[in-house]
Amino acid sequence: MRILVVGSGGREHALAWKISQSPLVTALFAAPGNPGIAKVAELVPLKADDLDGLVDFARRERLDLVVVGPEAPLVAGLVDRLSAAGILAFGPTAAAAEIEGSKAFAKEVMVAAGIPTAEFATFTELEPALAWARRREGQVVVKADGLAAGKGVVVCSDMLEVEGALQEILVARIHGAAGARVLLEEKLTGPEASCICITDGKRVRMLPPAQDHKRIFDGDRGPNTGGMGAFCPTPKVTPDQLAEIQRTVLVPAIRELARRGRIFRGALYAGLMLTPRGPRVLEFNARLGDPETQPILLRIKGDLVPLLVGAARGDLGEAMIELDSRASVGVVLAAAGYPGQVSTGDDVEGADAAFAPDIQVFHAATTRDAEGRLLTAGGRVLTVCALGAGLDDAARRAYGAVARIRFRGMQFRKDIGASP
Ligand code: AMP
Ligand code: GLY
Repeated sequence: MRILVVGSGGREHALAWKISQSPLVTALFAAPGNPGIAKVAELVPLKADDLDGLVDFARRERLDLVVVGPEAPLVAGLVDRLSAAGILAFGPTAAAAEIEGSKAFAKEVMVAAGIPTAEFATFTELEPALAWARRREGQVVVKADGLAAGKGVVVCSDMLEVEGALQEILVARIHGAAGARVLLEEKLTGPEASCICITDGKRVRMLPPAQDHKRIFDGDRGPNTGGMGAFCPTPKVTPDQLAEIQRTVLVPAIRELARRGRIFRGALYAGLMLTPRGPRVLEFNARLGDPETQPILLRIKGDLVPLLVGAARGDLGEAMIELDSRASVGVVLAAAGYPGQVSTGDDVEGADAAFAPDIQVFHAATTRDAEGRLLTAGGRVLTVCALGAGLDDAARRAYGAVARIRFRGMQFRKDIGASP
């Protein structure tokens, strides 16, 4: 098969690495990819949001499958465009991806399907939003309705924080049109879990449950980021609970979308908070998680391609997920300044060292200069992943590899996977 992976992050490197091991693959491309992906796929200089360019390339190269990593091209309709051109694609249509593209739409689906989630209200004006928050004494979460690269959510503890968040998102529009409407939610407490399935629109195959660390600093302090690391499995979700989440969250969401004529094929991600009153959905994503995908894929044995093809075709058939019984941990190495303004163009040393086969360094924001030197090129630079006998062992091995990598201002959390 001739396959293209769309995207350039750590998730796409992990996907390309895994897909490249499939005996079904005769050619593997990535657009635009990154220097890590270049080791397993041929890079195509097309951006993930260049829908015309990607469709042309897929046609010209007679691709058998396009695997779309990030949300933006999904929400923009890349899969619709590819399907119209007769090209099989892994990922939902724009209509189905709206479950991630609009938090208000996601809530509508959850309410209609009876999926447990936080109490909420949506607003386009400041005063009524403030009044709703005041009744809850500022113990609310402010969310931009649209896509904001994982940064449009502010967890508040008092009215001063609520006012600040609403001023920025709704009034000053720091996330642009994504903040024209905001969602306010009751603030929940509990550990978080990412439960992701591969679906053909009817049936699902659960990936092992993972946990992401969203805050920038150890001990879950500081601002939210795109994710500073992840581990898998999370002991907070037992196999029975995962089956329950499949039955009460993922399958009802897929059914409700289908009922609305928005058949969801691809990876559906439920971000959950495990509250004292049971699991509650914080968000749905219409794709695999980043960085969760990196440690998750390390644990998948066998071929991923039949699963991707089955989901894309709308018939998972017999395709199953076989798991390595070991645990995995992925540590994100971020550039100085992340999640704010970051420094770029710094030399990265040690990322290409020879690590053990069950240690993988996935590139996210890296580039090579004319002399072939590896440089930082954005916020989350690398995800260093390792398998281990348990989470502690996996973390110890991942941090052992981290210690061999350096770039100026490198920041990372020291507690990924530690006694969750
Ligand atoms: P989201 O992008 O909606 O998943 O939100 C990002 C992060 O904000 C989550 O991973 C949680 O840590 C936090 N968060 C979101 N919604 C809530 C909520 N209702 N209560 C408490 N924390 C939340
Ligand atoms: N790690 C969170 C996300 O992918 O949205």
